[in-house]
Amino acid sequence: MTDKNKLVVLTHGGAGSDPAFADGTAIAGQMSMMSLQTGEPTIDAACLAVATLEDDGRFNAGIGSHKRSDGTVQMDASCMDSSGTFGAVAALEGFKNAVQAARIVSQSEYKILAGRGANQFAADQGCQTLSPDQIVGTGTDFSTTDTVGCVVRAGDEFACALSTGGIDSAIPGRVGDVPLIGCGLYAGSEGAVATTGDGEAIAMKVTALRAYQLIEQGMDPKAIVPTVIGWFKETTAFGIIVVSKIGFAGGSNRGMAWTASEMLH
Ligand code: GLY
Repeated sequence: MTDKNKLVVLTHGGAGSDPAFADGTAIAGQMSMMSLQTGEPTIDAACLAVATLEDDGRFNAGIGSHKRSDGTVQMDASCMDSSGTFGAVAALEGFKNAVQAARIVSQSEYKILAGRGANQFAADQGCQTLSPDQIVGTGTDFSTTDTVGCVVRAGDEFACALSTGGIDSAIPGRVGDVPLIGCGLYAGSEGAVATTGDGEAIAMKVTALRAYQLIEQGMDPKAIVPTVIGWFKETTAFGIIVVSKIGFAGGSNRGMAWTASEMLH
């Protein structure tokens, strides 16, 4: 067995999520790992984990999404892999799994679809709808900016995916880091990064791409995580999961449910 046979999955439930909810991130990780074991593409394995977290209800994504100031729910989601496939949706409304819509965008001629057009696209592609009464919402007990995410490795291939309901009570149309390539997430031939936290701060620091550049420089993920957390003020919620050919790590300046698993295939 060599590193070419190595499978790694990390999942997070968002900066500020209750670490006691790590059972949810573990189940999502197991789903993703099983998908990798059956030879599914890394990007689909990452999206499956995120869809599982969207369906959990305890995290700010999918049925657990925060509400906007007008009571509506709008979701952002994205996915990327080391071959350069990328897709995202922003301010998507009325669908159960925003990450599924992002994945379908990644297979289209477009990279990011937003708002009404994203809704129409998701409907045309048969994405499962979500009515307002199906949304359980996470409330504002923990962070107001958490996101769910996953990074995976299958040998020399990497991928990542994210989904969020955005900031609680933000105005409709507000979009954070999640659908912005290199901000909330990034994957390349050397690894993958998924972040969580204050979307405006994460975007302004082009965080995921800069974290990925640390991977390219040969830094161990166990050093990358505290380094990147150090880019943010303590008052700014932030978390990150990283996988590379050297290893993997995760952390946050808040509590954060997250899990990692590794196996040889
Ligand atoms: N990090 C998720 C958001 O700010 O929307």
